[in-house]
Amino acid sequence: MITCTGLSKHFGSIHAIDDFTVDIPTGQIFGLLGPNGAGKTTTMRMLCCLLRPTKGTAHIDSYDITKLADAHKIRGMIGFLPEVPGLYETLGAYQNLDYYAQFYNVPKPQRQESIKKTLDDLDLWNRRSEPVGGFSKGMKQKIAIARALIHDPPYLFLDEPTASLDPQAAKLVRDYILDLKTQGTTILINTHNLTEAERICDQVALIKNTLIKVGNPKHLEHSIFARTIAVTVDHIPPTLPQTITSLPGVTLNKIQDTTLYLSVKNPSDDNPRIIDWLSSQGIKITFITEEEHTLEDVYLKLLGTPQGG
Ligand SMILES: Nc1ncnc2c1ncn2[C@@H]1O[C@H](COP(=O)(O)OP(=O)(O)OP(=O)(O)O)[C@@H](O)[C@H]1O
Ligand SMILES: [Mg+2]
Repeated sequence: MITCTGLSKHFGSIHAIDDFTVDIPTGQIFGLLGPNGAGKTTTMRMLCCLLRPTKGTAHIDSYDITKLADAHKIRGMIGFLPEVPGLYETLGAYQNLDYYAQFYNVPKPQRQESIKKTLDDLDLWNRRSEPVGGFSKGMKQKIAIARALIHDPPYLFLDEPTASLDPQAAKLVRDYILDLKTQGTTILINTHNLTEAERICDQVALIKNTLIKVGNPKHLEHSIFARTIAVTVDHIPPTLPQTITSLPGVTLNKIQDTTLYLSVKNPSDDNPRIIDWLSSQGIKITFITEEEHTLEDVYLKLLGTPQGG
């Protein structure tokens, strides 16, 4: 469990993050979302004990990130993928991982097994002897992910893990993250990829130098936007915009061709009433579907649309 309590970091007059308070339950994938400069990397670095908070604190299990005596223990519990991989370019992939494993005092047999497994999982076992300086951006990123996992940490912090990966590699990493979750790893992830966050995160925190909103992506979508259904019918009588107002809790947003876009308060009660009412008017329904809102809609609503957007 990670508990952040009023976590804040100021760099002179710049308030990178202020009063960040959230709980991240064990075993969850938790996403930090927000625009450039929102404080995502700063927050992650504080949780790794690489930066000291200006105010507030956080606990990783029972360990306090502001206590010097706890910092060593916390570092051993966390695997961290930084924004920039920072590998030893002249060393081979295997050597890079072996170096870090020794740094974390991973015993030799376990080291060998763990390096083989992660390189296999990430499709790089056959390139293990090549210097990583010759690797592509995405391959370096995969080695850095393998490095973060080398000591089998219960917490994994990933700062934009799929940012430089091609679609197949990004999917491989996403599947890998989901697999780690099933093994009980708690994962904190910074990403600008909202589709990815929606797919894999149990909870997301939208931040802009402070916490704006936290919650499950689907719950946020449903709490912020009214549920909307699109009902395609065989014909629309000219009187329908007036007569449909007899259905309480149902709002007609627009009509496009023969499709009615309706906001409903409570889909499980309102949808059957709409269906009954339409058939009582002699109108035949040919298609009915929910208009889904996305995490991107939530993000833009809460953090603002781009200028001109
Ligand atoms: N070491 C530092 N010294 C001074 N200011 C810093 C330092 N690190 C971060 N900042 C500032 O803190 C703010 C938050 O930066 P941070 O890197 O945490 O943002 P971010 O959300 O990770 O952004 P991005 O999406 O671009 O990676 C920015 O204004 C940044 O300039
Ligand atoms: Mg960042």
